[in-house]
Amino acid sequence: MTDATETQVSPSIADLPNHVGETVTLKGWLYNKRAGGKIRFLVLRDGSGYVQAIVYRPDVSDSVWEAADLATQESTLEVTGVVREHPKEKGKVELAASGVTILDLCHDWPITPKEHGVDFLMSQRHLWLRSAKQVATLKVRSEVESAIHDFFYTRGYTRTDSPILTPAACEGTSNLFETQYTEEEKAYLSQSGQLYLEPVCAALGKVYCFGPTFRAEKSKTRRHLREFWMVEPEVAFLEIDGLMDLAEEFVKELTGRVLDRRGEDLKRLERDTSKLEPVLSKRFPRISYREAVEILKGKGFPVTFGDDLGGDEETALTEGFDTPVMVTRYPVSIKAFYMQPDPQDPDVVLGLDMLAPEGYGEIIGGSQRIHDHDLLLSRITQHALPLEAFQWYLDVRKYGTFPHSGFGMGLERFVAWMCGVPHLRECIPYPRMLYRIYP
Ligand code: 4AD
Ligand code: MG
Repeated sequence: MTDATETQVSPSIADLPNHVGETVTLKGWLYNKRAGGKIRFLVLRDGSGYVQAIVYRPDVSDSVWEAADLATQESTLEVTGVVREHPKEKGKVELAASGVTILDLCHDWPITPKEHGVDFLMSQRHLWLRSAKQVATLKVRSEVESAIHDFFYTRGYTRTDSPILTPAACEGTSNLFETQYTEEEKAYLSQSGQLYLEPVCAALGKVYCFGPTFRAEKSKTRRHLREFWMVEPEVAFLEIDGLMDLAEEFVKELTGRVLDRRGEDLKRLERDTSKLEPVLSKRFPRISYREAVEILKGKGFPVTFGDDLGGDEETALTEGFDTPVMVTRYPVSIKAFYMQPDPQDPDVVLGLDMLAPEGYGEIIGGSQRIHDHDLLLSRITQHALPLEAFQWYLDVRKYGTFPHSGFGMGLERFVAWMCGVPHLRECIPYPRMLYRIYP
């Protein structure tokens, strides 16, 4: 049965090219306005995209003309018009407006086209999110999240999530967030889901977790958030070389997906995508930490075996490469307690860091895990970790132990690199940083 009155279609702006010739009604926000004598160009946005509505004085009623005149940036509008092909830009459409209604007139929108300081923008983050570059960044983030799930799903992984409240540290104690769990007991916000993923790996073989992680970073850098999202696969019977292959395949696939599907957003971000193309086809260089030290010495850095590599060192190591670089076999002394020592060279561990080019630094950290019970026990003791809290973790090595490996990728680090955004604070809707928890 069809209704006697034809219902008005209200597609999203992104869907308008499928409605050329139809009259549609859109609801959204005024992004931008230009005015000529008898004409007003209203750029409307609804989150899915942007469209220009043309209000031509001779074609509209007085009230419509007045609304078009009054509408201010970020006013909520309802606009009706005929969808037509854009006269200059192929594949794009515009709207010949016949109706404009102001649903809410916006006064004193604080984010004007003039230059604002970062502190101001961060305090207005809830509004700043509406800006075109912020919207584009969040779209890339969402694409990466869904590509991550597709990557693992199509390869037979099971997603299992790790707890956020934990009784002990995973990645060292210097940046733990502590909270009162019960009157007697403390809990810590998780720094990584890895430890909890390892027993699940023994149950399900190939697993991953993806969730928020917390580190009370005590310095302000562009690469550190106090709350960030990490994706962590863990694979039974996988060893270090296989882990490196997995990490490389993963980054290649995610990059391809962003280039394929978020081209418009990358353009809005003015991202030079030719810098990302090589990632798709070239093999990522793999160097050992010992080699890295020699390279850095050659570049004038005063590093010796046992030193941690900071941001400047990471940037220097990737210079001259247009793909990420994988550094492996770090000294035992600077890496986590659970990393498997190299049987050929027991002073180093079978761990890897993947460093992104263009100065984006470490995007992935991972390793083969110690699977020998007694060796792990001695590491826990050496690191002065509370043995009672790790009994369950040791059990994985007690009952049917198995070599296994995994890594963690910081979502915001990866998104920053894809978008060419220098600071992680723009790669998460509400960044949590030192001295900043509002809004
Ligand atoms: O290298 P990390 O500390 O490794 C782990 O936590 C392992 N347990 C992961 C595993 O093997 N399952 O952290 C992994 C990644 C880093 O490479 C980086 O991308 C990101 O997490 N990361 C941060 N991102 C934003 N802000 C911070 N403060 C970060 N710390 C680490
Ligand atoms: Mg690391």
